[in-house]
Amino acid sequence: MNIIVTENKKELSQKACSIFESQVRDNPKSVLGLATGSTPTGTYEELIEGYSHGNADYENVKTINLDEYVGLGGDHPQSYRTFMEENLFRHVNIQQENTFIPDGTASELQKECLRYEEVIENIGPPDIQLLGIGENGHIGFNEPGSSFDTETHVVELAASTREANARFFDSIEDVPKQAVTMGIRSILKSKRIVLLASGERKARAIEQLLTGEITEDFPASALKRHDDVTLIVDKEAYQYAA
Ligand code: F6R
Repeated sequence: MNIIVTENKKELSQKACSIFESQVRDNPKSVLGLATGSTPTGTYEELIEGYSHGNADYENVKTINLDEYVGLGGDHPQSYRTFMEENLFRHVNIQQENTFIPDGTASELQKECLRYEEVIENIGPPDIQLLGIGENGHIGFNEPGSSFDTETHVVELAASTREANARFFDSIEDVPKQAVTMGIRSILKSKRIVLLASGERKARAIEQLLTGEITEDFPASALKRHDDVTLIVDKEAYQYAA
């Protein structure tokens, strides 16, 4: 695993942005794997800024997002579709039909999981996948104990994950209890992976990632089985691993 330690989240976001812009410049038809949450917002801001300066052209780029809440339609303010529209898509020249996110309102969720895995097979796998990490080591919504052998599937969200995400909702009761997520096996299909971690809140998870064993009890440890992972981590998140 390549490790880049930055002073702060701003520098982390700039580094991640420049990796993604280089990818798009090298291959204008790149497939980008994207994540939601608070960690990548700075990266998306940098990408939008870069786009306004002509650093990259998204006309022929395709994106595949990791996950979506079950029960939230694409127009729900807290859906990950809305998140992506607000934080990136509507600010660059990406074509809506080239952006893929699981449908959390599909009537048959199992079928939706199979359909989404086919999207990953047919459109992807991503040339590069952006990831955040949960305090409990989750990636996507693969919670501790998830099999490393899963593709896109429906998950019950851990209480800790619902609590962590409650800040985006009016109350914890409004946080969905399930999500559709790419599985660990789906995520590892990406050609390159960039994992971001920022702030003290993530420091124990980064310590465990870098010093612990590979175990399904700590989903992010599966990334050690991939041969092209770059961890970009700020000093606060790196403090116990340093
Ligand atoms: C989001 C996702 C999650 C987040 C993780 C960290 O699409 O898949 O795994 O990356 O929960 O979230 P933040 O960045 O909000 O700390």
